[in-house]
Amino acid sequence: TLYPLLAMLAGYLIGSLSFAVIISRVMGLSDPRSYGSGNPGATNVLRSGNKAAAILTLVFDALKGYVPVLLVLLFGPDVGLGEGTAALVGLAAFLGHLWPVFFGFKGGKGVATAAGVLLAVNPLLGAATLATWLIVAFFTRYSSLAALVASVFAPFYQMLIWGMGPVVLTAGLMGLLLIWRHEANIRKLLNGTESRIGQKAAAAA
Ligand code: G3P
Repeated sequence: TLYPLLAMLAGYLIGSLSFAVIISRVMGLSDPRSYGSGNPGATNVLRSGNKAAAILTLVFDALKGYVPVLLVLLFGPDVGLGEGTAALVGLAAFLGHLWPVFFGFKGGKGVATAAGVLLAVNPLLGAATLATWLIVAFFTRYSSLAALVASVFAPFYQMLIWGMGPVVLTAGLMGLLLIWRHEANIRKLLNGTESRIGQKAAAAA
């Protein structure tokens, strides 16, 4: 049937809602693509100095990964959709965040959305991955490094504890794309110019 494809299309469209841009616009703040790293994401919105806007961006970018997956898990079985489709719908939402159809296909790096997807497909995996992010972020204050480390660990947590399956593949693919999206961050981490969480940045990069 067409249900898996329709569900993935819906996931992609929801993922395409770039909440960093939407929330900044609604709150009358400048466009996050114009300052700091230029990335439409919660970390960069925090550089505007507006914590509420950053938290809202984080929550909504995570929800757009979480909700579509949860809906498939809850109502998919009625139309023959299982965990595999749920994982693919999460991946589609993640792809929407990276290449949003509503924002000229110029999206973010996918950290919050991937977290939402993982929390929905396997809450314990999501919690372990979040804990990994928090530990690295706490000790280094680098949002990007925390995301890089967490995204490497996630597929291994899933594989070692729950075994091979669609969730491992989804977590692995999201991780690879997320790392690739962090190319500029990796360069800055290596040459010591990456900004720490909460550091404000006025100039566009
Ligand atoms: O949310 C993405 C984060 O890992 C890095 O963001 O703005 O520092 O490139 P940014």
